[in-house]
Amino acid sequence: PLIAIVFGGRSSEHAISCATASGVLGAIDRDKYRVLPIGITRDGAWVLEDDDADKFALDPENLPEVVDNGTRIHLPDSAKHREVTVSRVEGDALGAEAGAERTERTSLGEVDLVFPILHGPFGEDGTVQGMLELVGLPFVGSSVLAASVGMDKHYTKIVLRDAGLQVAAGVTVTQHQWDTQGESLAAEVIDQLGLPVFIKPARAGSSVGVSKVAALEEFADAMATALAEDDHVLVEAAVVGREVEIAVLESRPGERARASVAGEIVMTKAEFYDFEAKYLDDSGVELRCPADLSDELLEEMAELGVRAFEALGASGLARVDFFLTDDGFVVNEINTMPGFTPISMFPKCWQASGMSYPELITELIEVASA
Ligand code: DAL
Ligand code: MG
Repeated sequence: PLIAIVFGGRSSEHAISCATASGVLGAIDRDKYRVLPIGITRDGAWVLEDDDADKFALDPENLPEVVDNGTRIHLPDSAKHREVTVSRVEGDALGAEAGAERTERTSLGEVDLVFPILHGPFGEDGTVQGMLELVGLPFVGSSVLAASVGMDKHYTKIVLRDAGLQVAAGVTVTQHQWDTQGESLAAEVIDQLGLPVFIKPARAGSSVGVSKVAALEEFADAMATALAEDDHVLVEAAVVGREVEIAVLESRPGERARASVAGEIVMTKAEFYDFEAKYLDDSGVELRCPADLSDELLEEMAELGVRAFEALGASGLARVDFFLTDDGFVVNEINTMPGFTPISMFPKCWQASGMSYPELITELIEVASA
């Protein structure tokens, strides 16, 4: 089968998606699958990329990026025309007119399955998924609704709370509310939630745009940072507890989704598990898998992880992030396309559960094709 690996994308997590692609390109079973690497540039051009894992490896000094190389991926019109072709337009691709003469047009044959390894808006939020459904191309991961809800922390909270899962107390603030009520709103929210609070864009990942606010004076800056990423943001009470995460995989038809053993994020230096601690300087953070929890707690967490997956209506895979507090597990968020480099938590948890990284990739492809 021919697997299109789609990565990069328009969101602020572009580089993280490239790093994930690097891992997958390097580990996918080449005896079983042929690979079509498709990059999406930061401004949305779909290009044929090099099948080169090293090119996209995560280098904190020089974050990986898909750049426009002049090729274009033409998406199929419908299920009946499942041909993906690549063309190279004459001259400067960026300046080329629509319909410019094509000097090269290569049919790359039928794509059997798409693996959209995209994080954040325009990739993990149902947009790409909707397009793939429209043209009838099967793909790995959640479908439109689960992807959209999972991307948006406001709606995730509503769905999980309704399913009886504990979530952090929080208030959603829209750009409009902030513009019109500003400071008085800040005072009100702090009155309700106490301090510190976390201010997060509703739809972003990898902690981009997230700030911890310890005083009223810091509120406005944190709102501006979050509102730069999205037009509605969450203000959440800081949850005191251990940060534990679990990886969930869809099973074969008729079987319930299953969870890995849990992992724990142990912070030694950083103030919270932010972008820097996640990808740029991991010296202050340790990903421990399995987490040091009693069998009882591990079992409870697995059950809650699967329940969150089901409540969202997720498919394929998801990582469910919790805080373990004195009052039990509180779900922080659910990621329908979690970071997926060989050292990311999702694969690490499956490795600890007996599934290697290449096996995991095969499993995702097989489940999506089942
Ligand atoms: N949003 C990042 C990639 C994650 O959840 O792992
Ligand atoms: Mg996330």
